[in-house]
Amino acid sequence: MKLFFIAQITAFLLAIGLDFTIAAPASTHKASSKVSKDASDSPKMVFAHFMVGIVASYQAADWANDISLASASGIDGFALNIGADSYTETQLTLAYNAAASKNFKLFISFDMTSITDPTRISNIIKTYTSQSAQFKVDGKPFVSTFVGYGTVDWSSIESSSGVQLYLVPNWQANQIQGDSTISGAFSWIAWPSTNNQPIDSNMTTASDEAYISALAGKAYMAPVSPWFFTHYGVNSWNKNWIFYSDYLWFQRWEQILQLKPDFVEIITWNDFSESHYIGPLHPDNPSVYAGDPNTGAVEWVTGMPHDGWRDVAKAYITAYKNGASSPTVTKDEIVYYYRTIPKGTTCSDSVPQPTGYQYDEDNVYAITMLTSPGTLTITSGSKAAVKYSVPAGISLWSAPMGVGTQTFALQRNGATVLSGSGSKQISNTCTVYNFNAFVGTVM
Ligand SMILES: *[C@@H]1O[C@H](CO)[C@@H](O)[C@H](O)[C@H]1NC(C)=O
Repeated sequence: MKLFFIAQITAFLLAIGLDFTIAAPASTHKASSKVSKDASDSPKMVFAHFMVGIVASYQAADWANDISLASASGIDGFALNIGADSYTETQLTLAYNAAASKNFKLFISFDMTSITDPTRISNIIKTYTSQSAQFKVDGKPFVSTFVGYGTVDWSSIESSSGVQLYLVPNWQANQIQGDSTISGAFSWIAWPSTNNQPIDSNMTTASDEAYISALAGKAYMAPVSPWFFTHYGVNSWNKNWIFYSDYLWFQRWEQILQLKPDFVEIITWNDFSESHYIGPLHPDNPSVYAGDPNTGAVEWVTGMPHDGWRDVAKAYITAYKNGASSPTVTKDEIVYYYRTIPKGTTCSDSVPQPTGYQYDEDNVYAITMLTSPGTLTITSGSKAAVKYSVPAGISLWSAPMGVGTQTFALQRNGATVLSGSGSKQISNTCTVYNFNAFVGTVM
């Protein structure tokens, strides 16, 4: 059971076809490379961070379902976060088999807080990177990590496995400068924070710029995340905070279109414990919510779908891959989200409010995806309806939160084109300080 938790604590610790391969950014090419391209020309790929540590119970059909949903959103593959769990290899086999039949790409992201045995790492690399679903750049298997600077000697792992890697570890910007073993780096700085503490600020691109500069032309994989809330008590891991995420999903994708990084990794597909999942809920298999069912993520995840956020991602992923500076919308849709309690509510909870909760705004949010301009009406509980003139394309709107039913509507030329209410109300009574988001769509 211990190991079961390990893959869950990751963020806590930080502050086509068979031979599918892409060309590396130009500056990583040696003179002998067969393909020579500009960094900006390299195919942009989007992955989602997948916690293998919580899916001990997954069968082939579960993998197939997640892969279908991710593909439908334009996600190219999963970054498979693995720890030293006994079932790691069993699940990797299921994943690589499921991905192979769906033209979906996979790479392994070694969770270096958990898996550190060089022999096991080497064996995993040997076994899985030769599989058809393995994502490769310049013929080299792409391999990433969660932290782990200096934990293992990657050159020896390349020797012992006999596999030359395209290594894109999650080392810090000040650790990668001039490192000759890496082909790129991945940042975990997806939320506004200082020394991993919540701050009252939106996400900026300062950390991306630090990476890009330290990488000096090597590949940069940028993180994108919709939210971060975790609520384990002081008695378990002292893990109880929210990073300010009110505008994050929209603003961060806008930043990605400007930055045009070589790769994007969405954090995450299924880390329920930190509320940054965009994959489906598992009402029939709450074991994936990890932890003691009475105190674990089941408390803040149950009935809190995030699926609608994938629709926003899809439009941005298409734009990112096309090098566009704004997404193209082909179908009207409102993706809304809100917390289900005002921040000042007192709950009958033995765990206090998450650190950083004061920074949250008592708003409800709507991301409009419109083919042509219209009028958005947000009616939050008993508050007066708020109306906005909304342009075509994607934009983000908010209205003050009111207790009760949340309704979102779009009018055009005097007619209501879209209208719908969240299946979960905002309430001022509660048993848990749940600062997770409820996400819904109207289309
Ligand atoms: C974040 O950005 C939104 C939209 O521009 C703005 O309304 C809000 O005040 C910002 N939040 C902070 C903490 O600066």
